[in-house]
Amino acid sequence: MPTSTHIPVLLEETIQALGVQPGGRYIDCTLGGGSHAAAILEHSAPGGQLLGIDADPEAIRAARTRLKAYSSSTLLVKENFINLKAICMKHDFFPVNGILFDLGLSSIQLEDKSRGFTFQQDGPLDMRLSPSQEITAADIVNTVPETSLTRLIRTYGEEAYSRHIASQIVRERPVNTTLQLVQIVERAVGGRRGRIHPATKTFQALRIAVNHELEHLESAIEQAINLLGFGGRLVVISYHSLEDRIVKQFMQQESRDCICPPGTPTCICGHTARLRLVSRKVIIPSPEEIKSNPRSRSAKLRVAECIVPWNEHHKNSGKLHFSKGVKTNEWQKPTMIKKRKKALSTV
Ligand SMILES: C[S@@+](CC[C@H](N)C(=O)[O-])C[C@H]1O[C@@H](n2cnc3c(N)ncnc32)[C@H](O)[C@@H]1O
Repeated sequence: MPTSTHIPVLLEETIQALGVQPGGRYIDCTLGGGSHAAAILEHSAPGGQLLGIDADPEAIRAARTRLKAYSSSTLLVKENFINLKAICMKHDFFPVNGILFDLGLSSIQLEDKSRGFTFQQDGPLDMRLSPSQEITAADIVNTVPETSLTRLIRTYGEEAYSRHIASQIVRERPVNTTLQLVQIVERAVGGRRGRIHPATKTFQALRIAVNHELEHLESAIEQAINLLGFGGRLVVISYHSLEDRIVKQFMQQESRDCICPPGTPTCICGHTARLRLVSRKVIIPSPEEIKSNPRSRSAKLRVAECIVPWNEHHKNSGKLHFSKGVKTNEWQKPTMIKKRKKALSTV
């Protein structure tokens, strides 16, 4: 069983970044134990409302207890934030003044050895956020071909020894417990290297793969923009470079009117800015916070404000409109390359 509670990261900075005001309406997409949510509710009283979402039923249970005093102004939903738009439509919860994503896992989940997220204690190699998900980390390590496993560990773990680790895993299959995987990684890379545990990156890679973390983040922040009212804030706290890169590129792209590649003679993308960067610099914890909560050391907070008048979101249809927007990798698509070449050839 977990032994400690979760200490919220960048708490004051989050409330400030969200610009929480009395009577405001907010969404916490990663409710966890409910500490950020409690602070949002406290600062938005009187009249504030909060929709809290978490995929983990245990988190919802913990948050319900924590937020008991605010039960009349909270709505807690056990769901994956990939369904953000559908959840808000179902509960008529839009437009909102602010949306928070505090990504990753809570200390409660990390310390619960029965969930399989920690390499410090033995437990089943599970790593699912919700028991309703079908694929566990054990399913992945025991069934994925070696080349795909190498790619997965390299891409999601940014692990230089991915090939050695994948090949050792395949040699020692079946792998069913966290400690068994730790020992395999240690054998593959030859014991401890530097300050971080050798299994850190492999565990990160598997967790990202099991929970589709990057794809879900990319989709959910796109959905989030369309739920914000004019001046509403999108705040994202990430804990590793893969997540932060997605958030940074998304916010940068959505705060620009044209996203044609440099050198394009005239704009052909037709893109218009939907966000304004509130702070160009990423917000990180103070040395004091890192000292009192070492888990906060890798946190990065980014904040942007919606500059689309609410009417524009549901222009023409009279309903909430969710444009797909232009994705970061749009320019790699053959149709876009063709368009770009055509534009350049007319110069
Ligand atoms: C870092 S914790 C949040 C802690 C919270 N801010 C607090 O103050 O206690 C992240 C939470 O997000 C949840 N989570 C992660 N990815 C999710 C997703 N795709 N959909 C819903 N919840 C998710 C996890 O289950 C976890 O409870």
